[in-house]
Amino acid sequence: MKRILVTGGAGFVGSHVCKALAREGFLPIVYDDLSTGFTWAVKWGPLFKGSLEDKERLKQVLQETNPIGVMHFAARTDARKCQQEPFAYYQTNVGGTANLLEMVQCFEIPYLIFSSTCAVYGTPKETPIEESHPTNPINVYGETKLIGEKLVQLLPRTQSAVLRYFNAAGADPDGELGESHFPATHLIPILIDTALKKRDAFSFFGKDLPTQDGTPIRDYIHVSDLAEAHVKALKHLMNHQGNLTLNLGTGEGFSVQEIVKTFEAAFDCQLPLKVAPKAPADPPCLLAKSRAAQEILNWQPKHSSLKTLLETTWSWQTR
Ligand SMILES: NC(=O)c1ccc[n+]([C@@H]2O[C@H](COP(=O)([O-])OP(=O)(O)OC[C@H]3O[C@@H](n4cnc5c(N)ncnc54)[C@H](O)[C@@H]3O)[C@@H](O)[C@H]2O)c1
Repeated sequence: MKRILVTGGAGFVGSHVCKALAREGFLPIVYDDLSTGFTWAVKWGPLFKGSLEDKERLKQVLQETNPIGVMHFAARTDARKCQQEPFAYYQTNVGGTANLLEMVQCFEIPYLIFSSTCAVYGTPKETPIEESHPTNPINVYGETKLIGEKLVQLLPRTQSAVLRYFNAAGADPDGELGESHFPATHLIPILIDTALKKRDAFSFFGKDLPTQDGTPIRDYIHVSDLAEAHVKALKHLMNHQGNLTLNLGTGEGFSVQEIVKTFEAAFDCQLPLKVAPKAPADPPCLLAKSRAAQEILNWQPKHSSLKTLLETTWSWQTR
């Protein structure tokens, strides 16, 4: 069985990718410090507890497991916290990534897939955003991810795919996995917590952006669609020469207000709502052009309708 080291495989996106890897006959080997991940999410292969910051542990695990590829999800990801803790973000997302890549180089691992983000584009000049759009991050998180991308390009003997996802959402349609961030950091889990009265109210961060209703428009992609794209990207690298940088999104956007209204209608509830001060550096609209991923990987999102995103997250969170 071909072994793939999955850093951050106990987290939200990484665990769904492990399931997809196992389905396609790979053995996912998870390397995770469990800072925001969970042992229960590691179901399809072994878990090695360890930090990206611990180069000796990384070396030992790679020596022991001898993977043909690495998928690198482990990171600090909270775009709101990153401005308060910039050095921690640089340490993990840049320093930790450099440690990992040094080991990838040392063991001459042929394939690497790197989790990147639309945050590398900052506030785009045009949307939908193509991969060739200039990168210009407007927060520390996006900056650290862009540096991570640049580090990946320095690997001399490893083929790589940099996958820039837009907003990951939803949960495993079989109910085996889902997002578990405490407190919730993403829109749909926050709406569900509000409906379940675990939060007093849902806050719009300002309502005066230049969009139809003043709230930000984002492109939501189901985590199982992301997982499938990762496995397809790995297989592509195994069968072709060269590196890839691909957006992963649907190209369709929903405003926060639209999602709140659809949520209330779908679950027959009225959420307590308030307007909080505007978030700094909040681009009005982020939509992906994902034609390259669709053509090169022969990939199409299947689970990313708003209805499926809401329903799978609801089932997971209220299980
Ligand atoms: N969720 C999204 O909407 C989204 C969007 C774009 C990109 N991404 C990227 O996808 C990746 C996964 O995000 P997620 O939402 O699954 O986050 P997550 O927090 O659920 O998962 C991250 C995992 O990495 C582990 N980890 C963190 N720091 C570590 C360290 N120093 N050493 C070892 N393990 C460590 C955590 O324990 C966790 O299991 C990240 O790289 C993120 O930047 C996520």
